[in-house]
Amino acid sequence: MILLTGATGTIGREVLRLLPPGLPVRVMARSPERVACGRPEVRVVRGDFGDHESLLRAARGTRTAFLVTSRIGDDDLRFLNAAREAGVRRVVKLSAAGVLDPLADDAITRWQRRNEELWVHSGLEWTLLRPRAFMSNALAWAPGVRERGVVRALYGSSGHACVDPRDVAAVAVLALTEQGHAGRGHTLTGPAAVSAAQQTAHLGEVLGRRLRFEEMDADEARAALRGRYPREVADALVEKAERLRAGGKEEVGTAVPALLGRPAGSFRSWARDHAGAFGPAPAAEGETRPRCGTGPAGS
Ligand SMILES: NC(=O)c1ccc[n+]([C@@H]2O[C@H](COP(=O)([O-])OP(=O)(O)OC[C@H]3O[C@@H](n4cnc5c(N)ncnc54)[C@H](OP(=O)(O)O)[C@@H]3O)[C@@H](O)[C@H]2O)c1
Repeated sequence: MILLTGATGTIGREVLRLLPPGLPVRVMARSPERVACGRPEVRVVRGDFGDHESLLRAARGTRTAFLVTSRIGDDDLRFLNAAREAGVRRVVKLSAAGVLDPLADDAITRWQRRNEELWVHSGLEWTLLRPRAFMSNALAWAPGVRERGVVRALYGSSGHACVDPRDVAAVAVLALTEQGHAGRGHTLTGPAAVSAAQQTAHLGEVLGRRLRFEEMDADEARAALRGRYPREVADALVEKAERLRAGGKEEVGTAVPALLGRPAGSFRSWARDHAGAFGPAPAAEGETRPRCGTGPAGS
């Protein structure tokens, strides 16, 4: 039986979707009603990293776990303690590519490095997934795109080998269901380094709209991020962007095509599949769009 955490989040949701039908799966979630799954072999139980008893209940009877932790702190240690007590044998841990960058020293990267150390010395079988930034981070641009046709970001000309979250999830499924991944770290990138300005152009092509890229400065970005995240996280994200500016996130890895046997998904194809989040799709040739307030209902 596989235990899945983070199933309401970006990667865990995709892992749940991609796990082969028929495989017994237990999902641990803080809000079970928010887990999107109608398969009978998937059981959803309530659990929270802050509640040891709930972790134990979730982990008992499972052998392999997919672990997503998302706040700086001790959730990995809490999960490890429960996993050991419950007899879990193998953990596939979602980490981050930045841990391998010797010049990355922001609070998020330091936290993920501590987590990796914990798993490497846990005595359990471990696999570390180290993705670059998820292409889905571009969803944060959706309000600006919809309302003003503008994308605003830091260091818009710096290349970033961001990865399609669906590829991260596909590799996670392999590591959870196949042998041969124990004791390995997989660095997961997209097929090319793309800058935020290029992402803006791709989005514009897909949406059939002219979009404008506007460069933010670090103070402005920090202030905006502090409105959305705790101060420590916001400051870490601005520090991470400094590594982007210095070219530290450009390198394209080979793990995704090597493991999946196909090219990694491009930002353009991610954008095509998520165009609906950025506004109405462009009208197909020959199709006319009704204007607001016209037609029978409005006459
Ligand atoms: N975003 C990126 O570009 C990027 C890049 C590389 C690595 N990463 C790493 O990816 C991880 C985040 O993955 P993600 O983006 O898929 O996650 P996410 O979308 O942020 O979702 C977090 C998940 O964790 C669950 N969760 C949060 N607190 C919990 C708790 N106390 N007990 C149980 N479950 C809890 C959430 O459940 P609720 O629905 O209940 O909140 C949700 O399912 C982080 O470790 C991050 O460092 C991210």
